[in-house]
Amino acid sequence: MRRLFIAGNWKLNKNINEAERFASELKSALIDINTVDIAVAPTVLALPTVCKKLQHTNIEVSAQNIHSHASGAFTGEIAAEMIRAAGATYTIIGHSERRAIFGEKDEFINQKVHAAFRSGLLPILCVGETLEQREAGHASSIVITQLKKGLNGLSPDQLSCVTIAYEPVWAIGTGKTASPEQAQDMHAQIRSWLYASFPAFVGDQLRIQYGGSVKPHNAHALLSKPDIDGALIGGASLKVEAFVSIIETAASL
Ligand code: PGA
Repeated sequence: MRRLFIAGNWKLNKNINEAERFASELKSALIDINTVDIAVAPTVLALPTVCKKLQHTNIEVSAQNIHSHASGAFTGEIAAEMIRAAGATYTIIGHSERRAIFGEKDEFINQKVHAAFRSGLLPILCVGETLEQREAGHASSIVITQLKKGLNGLSPDQLSCVTIAYEPVWAIGTGKTASPEQAQDMHAQIRSWLYASFPAFVGDQLRIQYGGSVKPHNAHALLSKPDIDGALIGGASLKVEAFVSIIETAASL
């Protein structure tokens, strides 16, 4: 019912030339994949070049972040409308690095989610608990609170087009993956909350990606879980072979 969605978050890696070359390699390697949704998120500097390279292919482009305003006195920021005009389809919002390093709060993240829809971009909203919060038994309440605040005010139709990326902070870039059972358990709780809070089609259609040290060797176990609808991949999305291998795994399911 829900197509798997694999997205690569390149973070602060790859200059324009490197990004263009990488996009070309991905384009040829993934040309035959037509059962999985695929996206890559280059830096905003490389984004227009990557969009051109991947135009009319099976690979969509995502921004890593947007600002909540369309224009104005916001030095250093980029508007959702500008990202959309460059040819992107998605934007990541509320990544844990934005929350932890740049101090982004749920209310601001919610404004960005609305800005994405206003501009025609589809949001990939990241949520996740820290190790301390998990050990204190607060993982689910933290995640559900981030979702309630982050998705506040969206219509059911908009909600059904959101992608949630559940990324436990302790699993990002650390090599520590949540076990497939731990990940499935949180995804199922998110799904139950969606069914309890919104019309059923939202719970049926909204995709929940898992993120945090997803690699070729653990992709199969994670992606075969019923409520895991894809992956948001950092480190392993920077190498053609690893990223393609994960996508091929998804396509085989
Ligand atoms: P990772 O990053 O795959 O390197 O753990 C995931 C992410 O931050 O989205």
